Amino acid sequence: MRLNLKILYIFLIITVLSCKTKAPFRYSLQKSAIADQSMVVTAHPLASEIGLKILKKGGNAVDAAIAVQYTLAVVLPVAGNIGGGGFMVLRMADGTTNTLDFREKAPGKASRDMYLDEQQAVIPRLSIDGHLASGVPGSVAGMDAAFTRYSQLKDFAALIDPAIALARDGFQISQQQADGLNRTREAFIKLNTTTPAFVKNTEWKAGDLLVQTELAKTLTRIRDQGAAGFYEGETADLIVAEMKAGGGIISHQDLKDYEAIWRQPLVSTYKEYGIISMPPPSSGGLALAQLLKMVAPYPIRTYGFQSAEAIHLMAEAERRVYADRATYLGDSDFVTVPIRSLIDDNYLKNRMMDFDPNRANASEMVGAGLVTPVESEETTHFCIVDAAGNAVSLTTTLNGGYGAKTVVSGAGFLLNNEMDDFSAKPGVANMFGLIGNEANAIEPGKRMLSSMTPTIVTKDNEVYLVVGTPGGSTIITSVFQTILNVIEFDKTLPDAVSLGRFHHQWKPDAIQLDELIELSPPVKKNLLKKGHHLKQRSNFGRVEAILRRADGRLEGAADVRGDDDARGF
Ligand code: DON
Repeated sequence: MRLNLKILYIFLIITVLSCKTKAPFRYSLQKSAIADQSMVVTAHPLASEIGLKILKKGGNAVDAAIAVQYTLAVVLPVAGNIGGGGFMVLRMADGTTNTLDFREKAPGKASRDMYLDEQQAVIPRLSIDGHLASGVPGSVAGMDAAFTRYSQLKDFAALIDPAIALARDGFQISQQQADGLNRTREAFIKLNTTTPAFVKNTEWKAGDLLVQTELAKTLTRIRDQGAAGFYEGETADLIVAEMKAGGGIISHQDLKDYEAIWRQPLVSTYKEYGIISMPPPSSGGLALAQLLKMVAPYPIRTYGFQSAEAIHLMAEAERRVYADRATYLGDSDFVTVPIRSLIDDNYLKNRMMDFDPNRANASEMVGAGLVTPVESEETTHFCIVDAAGNAVSLTTTLNGGYGAKTVVSGAGFLLNNEMDDFSAKPGVANMFGLIGNEANAIEPGKRMLSSMTPTIVTKDNEVYLVVGTPGGSTIITSVFQTILNVIEFDKTLPDAVSLGRFHHQWKPDAIQLDELIELSPPVKKNLLKKGHHLKQRSNFGRVEAILRRADGRLEGAADVRGDDDARGF
């Protein structure tokens, strides 16, 4: 009897303890990886896994990218998408390069002043929330164009089926995703004509299953009919009906007319490295080229990682580059962007003529409507290198977190709020605090200016570094820092992508510091003495990168700021 009681007692204690210690659900993330042949780095472990599976099946980097894009549309609703757009930069093993622009376009009924009231003031949040914020989505056309031109597997169903299964059967959400969905609950309710799958009666918890039945059906139509499964037929009807129900303006004609465009990459150099990046309608490649060329003449390696001298130099270059961006950049199919002049060596040398190592140059007085970014910043980047040496760097977005927060009823996907990337009114800042001008004014069919900077760095005629990140206006400077972290400051790849970052964008006139940055008091003091304003803010960027190491192996690194994951074989 005594023994039985003892056993019962022990059993009870074990039960209580095991209940107490039952850990909340967590994906086991691989933050870095080293592999001989191939590497995939994305913002979600399921997407990395599926990308890798496609490579193992004999797909090339583009096949894997298509599978990852569709998987992220399911498992990363905050940014992955079929209702948004993006840019792909690629370098094939034979050395050829290309870029694919599947950026959203302004609908045919869009007009220059569509977000202004009668007094010509910008109506708050009209370009950010709901139906009117959405540009014509480009992602499905983009994947279709990429498949047609570059697929090795030539089996589209194999690329999209994993995403369909995840939407139909559900996947477990992470803590970060549960927090995001809970935070956005009210907005989802307010901005939708029917209740989307992202809203449930109780709080979301890590490990809950997110099932997206309608999205699975839409993806199935895309599988069976290609791009027409989205831009025509039932999906198009659902989009247009949603627009009618919620006061949006995307029409059947807009959807039918949408085309992804292959564009010449923006190619430049930094010392012995080649830089392949995105031309307009992104400002990213151009701005990155300007930044690298502006700092190249200075002994930045000697200054040291995040020394006051290095931060000062980089911030001063950033100030000038973002001022150029605001004035000259827009969709080059609509306005003349003086690309060559802006990256001309002499022009950039002149631009830095008034750089003073001891003093910050003040930006103009901050005018009305200039704000520090307050929106959550959600876009997503992924990098893939396959065994043949083909490399893909792809950034895709809905713009803000969950885009317009409006789901197309019956079709289950979120609409973007990319229209906010246009300049709603010259001189008035958008949600990232970015100012634009004539060049980025709204016109029907025009693409809104972007900062996305998917980039491939080459060395000795081989892919050296594949890199990119989300982060709105901070994208360009995060890519800039990551490249310098590797090339100049000898950081390991995991450190290069995850260490704290800083950012200057001309206006507001401040060096923004993210939460992970650790500047010593003397460095801060030195920067303040030079006349800089320092502004602590939330984390920005989720950098993903793949590096070709000196021993020829591939190293992948995923930012510690999210559920990002690197894996290879
Ligand atoms: O294209 C752009 O520059 C923006 N729509 C990107 C938004 C973004 O990165 C938000 N996320 N982190």
